Amino acid sequence: MKIKKSAFLQSVTDWRQCPQSQLPEYAFIGRSNVGKSSLINMLVQNSTLAKTSSKPGKTQTINHFIINDEWFLVDLPGYGFAHTSKETRANWAVMIDDYLQNRPNMICLFVLIDSRLEPQNIDVEFINKLGENGIPFSIIFTKTDKISTSKLNTNVNLFKNKMLETWEEFPPFFMTSSLTGQGREELLDYIGKINNNNL
Ligand code: GTP
Ligand code: MG
Repeated sequence: MKIKKSAFLQSVTDWRQCPQSQLPEYAFIGRSNVGKSSLINMLVQNSTLAKTSSKPGKTQTINHFIINDEWFLVDLPGYGFAHTSKETRANWAVMIDDYLQNRPNMICLFVLIDSRLEPQNIDVEFINKLGENGIPFSIIFTKTDKISTSKLNTNVNLFKNKMLETWEEFPPFFMTSSLTGQGREELLDYIGKINNNNL
């Protein structure tokens, strides 16, 4: 799929303020600093569309971007951000949970996993909760430019095995680098196919 047009639409803190639209929507979640906002920019080839930072905790709202006037990308805050108050963390968790539970046009949530790390409980627990709540998701291993192919394969296999302890099958998954553009075509083709079934 080709990206002909991308534009920022709005930032909100409550799912009720999300666009009144049935257009298909794809959201990005994962631990703070895993590379959600950078990946959105890589997909649309505009390094300034979503705000990124080397410091975790940058994205703190639900951000809608409209793509080709036909579908949305949504940048969400990260989970597991340690350097803020317990109250703020709890508010973000509620904001994300409410969004995920109340947005039927959100047809695929991309859960981003740092490919450099061995399976982290916080990610596995988050994914298990998605299963309990019936939220459709796929997995993206990020920052692949930062490790060797063999280490990448090891970590992906460890993650698969960890998930297969509780899941019957592993969901669709991708490996990406916002630096090199790895995974861009695959991800856009995947979204394009889902769109064709939903537009
Ligand atoms: P929060 O909004 O804080 O939750 O973070 P985020 O998940 O949106 O991460 P963000 O895209 O802001 O990126 C965090 C840092 O990682 C930035 O310094 C990015 O430049 C860097 N980064 C993101 N993706 C990649 C990647 O694929 N490769 C490399 N080398 N760095 C990356
Ligand atoms: Mg961000």
